[in-house]
Amino acid sequence: MDLNINIVLIAFFGMLASHATAEVFDVTKNGAAPGSPDNAEALLKTWKAACASPTASKVVVPKGVFKVSAAPLVGPCKAPIEFNLEGTLQAPQVGGPGYKSGDTWVNFDNVDFLTVSGKGIFDGQGQSTWGKKCDAQEYCGNVPMNLRFNFVKNSIVQDVTTKDSKQFHVNVLGCNNLTFQNFHVIAPKESLNTDGIHVGRSSGIKIIDTIIETGDDCISIGDGTKNITITKVTCGPGHGISVGSLGKYPNEEPVVGVFVTNCTMKNTMNGVRIKTWPDSKPGSATDMHFEDIIMENVGNPVLIDQEYCPAANCKNPGPSKVKISNVSFKKIRGTSSTPLGWKLLCSLKLPCENVVVSDIDLKYTGSEGPIQSECKNVNPTAEGTLNPKPCSTPLSS
Ligand SMILES: *[C@@H]1O[C@H](CO)[C@@H](O)[C@H](O)[C@H]1NC(C)=O
Ligand SMILES: *[C@@H]1O[C@H](CO)[C@@H](O)[C@H](O)[C@H]1NC(C)=O
Ligand SMILES: *[C@@H]1O[C@H](CO)[C@@H](O)[C@H](O)[C@H]1NC(C)=O
Ligand SMILES: *[C@@H]1O[C@H](CO)[C@@H](O)[C@H](O)[C@H]1NC(C)=O
Repeated sequence: MDLNINIVLIAFFGMLASHATAEVFDVTKNGAAPGSPDNAEALLKTWKAACASPTASKVVVPKGVFKVSAAPLVGPCKAPIEFNLEGTLQAPQVGGPGYKSGDTWVNFDNVDFLTVSGKGIFDGQGQSTWGKKCDAQEYCGNVPMNLRFNFVKNSIVQDVTTKDSKQFHVNVLGCNNLTFQNFHVIAPKESLNTDGIHVGRSSGIKIIDTIIETGDDCISIGDGTKNITITKVTCGPGHGISVGSLGKYPNEEPVVGVFVTNCTMKNTMNGVRIKTWPDSKPGSATDMHFEDIIMENVGNPVLIDQEYCPAANCKNPGPSKVKISNVSFKKIRGTSSTPLGWKLLCSLKLPCENVVVSDIDLKYTGSEGPIQSECKNVNPTAEGTLNPKPCSTPLSS
């Protein structure tokens, strides 16, 4: 037999073997049941047994709705572990039986070689929390996110759905080489503060072939994110893909390497944007590239906003101290729901550097005149066909 074929066969049977030997740990064998008021204990017991297995293991949640008050799924585990969700894990409603305040519901923590798989749903039952004011931050910060990944490495999250979270659907912190593939986020447009996936202080995160429908940012990229790839993601409803907001807190780490390609934004409030607070703490964001993006009826399709102040209550609006550089917006086409197709509003103190706009073709179908673009404290390099023309409007105040 040809040596190459041998190697292929060995690799193939090796794969089969590693799958075949994954020991199954079914939550229903540890007392979990669809009718039970809380399956947290059964789930935790199952996770712990699987995590302690010296060979590959698989936690299985079969079809059915399983109420779970909290799921701290903590490593390190002894071998690769799969969390196979075929049913629904259902969170308590705020104030309902088993409800715990705090920002965590299902939490994968300190796990290497984790696979989250299955056609199942993480259901946050967040309806009653949406629309509540959270100016003081306490309320918003004190209701659970559906899924947290803390210090997870070399892992994949695929096929599963997160639905109706009480705040962010997914928070990624301190992770490295974590891929979301064929992942789904579902919540209505009204669900404010429910970012789809928020990433911070992580590297090598990939979000691929994913559909995110929610009431806030589709994907938000926080400080310390390095080398994130977002490709073939469809967003909408929601607020679009955004880097930031940056500069709110002291000692934020740089954002380096953001690659957003082949994405579609449908009826989102913004398309692709980079936002920093005015009068901010120092910071930087560089090497950010947005290419092959389709906009369908999107407000602010392309936006750098260094005067980001959503509640318009920034006390001493001075220029942002976050340096933005090496940014490209290429091959962006479709329709804008506002007459401002692209807007680059940079900091007076630290103007944006090395910004390229190339082949942008946007149409505005409304009645407020022709489509425009606006530039402030930036001198973008313009390439290819640009509609609107670069920096076509006079500066707004
Ligand atoms: C990244 O994680 C995937 C999934 O576990 C793994 O197959 C791959 O080898 C990892 N890459 C590196 C460079 O470790
Ligand atoms: C960035 O990520 C890509 C794929 O996600 C990987 O191939 C590459 O090595 C990473 N680069 C750095 C500098 O981490
Ligand atoms: C987007 O997808 C098309 C078709 O698969 C591909 O040709 C193109 O290179 C992709 N764009 C980027 C920037 O990767
Ligand atoms: C921006 O790109 C230029 C040219 O590729 C490079 O020399 C520079 O180091 C980059 N800036 C940052 C902050 O990475």
